Amino acid sequence: MSTITTAIAPPIAAPAPGMPERIYSVDRAKFAEDFDKRPFTLQHSLSGHPAFTMERLHGLLERTLPIKDKVYWNAGKKRIDQRWSDQPGRDFSIEEAFRRIRETDAWIIIFGAERDPEIHDLLEQGLAEVQEMSGISLAREAKTKQTIIFITSPHRITNYHIDCECSLLLQIYGKKMIHVFDQTDREVLTEEELERFWTVDNNAAIYKEHLQDRAKSFLLEPGMAVHIPTNAPHWLQNGDDISVSINQNFQYKNDKLANVYRANYIARKMGMTPLPPGHSHFRDLLKGHGMKLPVAVGKKAQALKKKFERD
Ligand SMILES: [Fe+2]
Repeated sequence: MSTITTAIAPPIAAPAPGMPERIYSVDRAKFAEDFDKRPFTLQHSLSGHPAFTMERLHGLLERTLPIKDKVYWNAGKKRIDQRWSDQPGRDFSIEEAFRRIRETDAWIIIFGAERDPEIHDLLEQGLAEVQEMSGISLAREAKTKQTIIFITSPHRITNYHIDCECSLLLQIYGKKMIHVFDQTDREVLTEEELERFWTVDNNAAIYKEHLQDRAKSFLLEPGMAVHIPTNAPHWLQNGDDISVSINQNFQYKNDKLANVYRANYIARKMGMTPLPPGHSHFRDLLKGHGMKLPVAVGKKAQALKKKFERD
């Protein structure tokens, strides 16, 4: 769905001492053909890497906890179709959830894990390989780059959702089943859901059980990774053991596309049936530019609101 311009990517640099020769191994022609279009699996070399032992992850969690909005967790049974905000019960601390991860039905996420220098270098290397294999210049196209770490209990479900990032999910420990849907299938993911996602609700994608057989399902084991294209709906379930996975991702500088969805959200609210993006270059251009000021004002208002709440 992203409008991507490609450029000749620079050759990948030799790995620094202590870094793996390569993180990803995959058929390069297939990678270039399918990247950000459809999901596929590949091999990675980070399973067993010292940066992702439970001891190191515990230290990273402790260092990250004081930073606002960088750790998210909940505990308890969760359904595929539940929203992020539908919190299962958690009458214990995150430290206890981590310590007793085998039995707490917990889901612990560390955002921005590249604050750890070693994880930072692995992210840079991984995305350099993505750049080399996809032909997409991330220096030109990427707005953000991030590593997210997921530490989850046996059998735990991650509810159905879409993300704004283009990502690779690497299984480090344990097994996990992932179901990924086609982001261009408008029965699976409607225009209204996309408009709401980019405007007001990061949980806007609605799971449709009767369309489950349209998903591509992959059983991830240590050493395997899966590519999740931008906005491709997905849900996951752990196997019998605890699971550690890392997500190396980037977000496109796709403000224009996001602004078309935002303009369409407003138009639909006003009773109109807006034209989806990609059908009229001129209209997309108008909507993209037309939303620049309201979005900037909205961001400024949000920043001021946060500042006043802090002060
Ligand atoms: Fe996700």
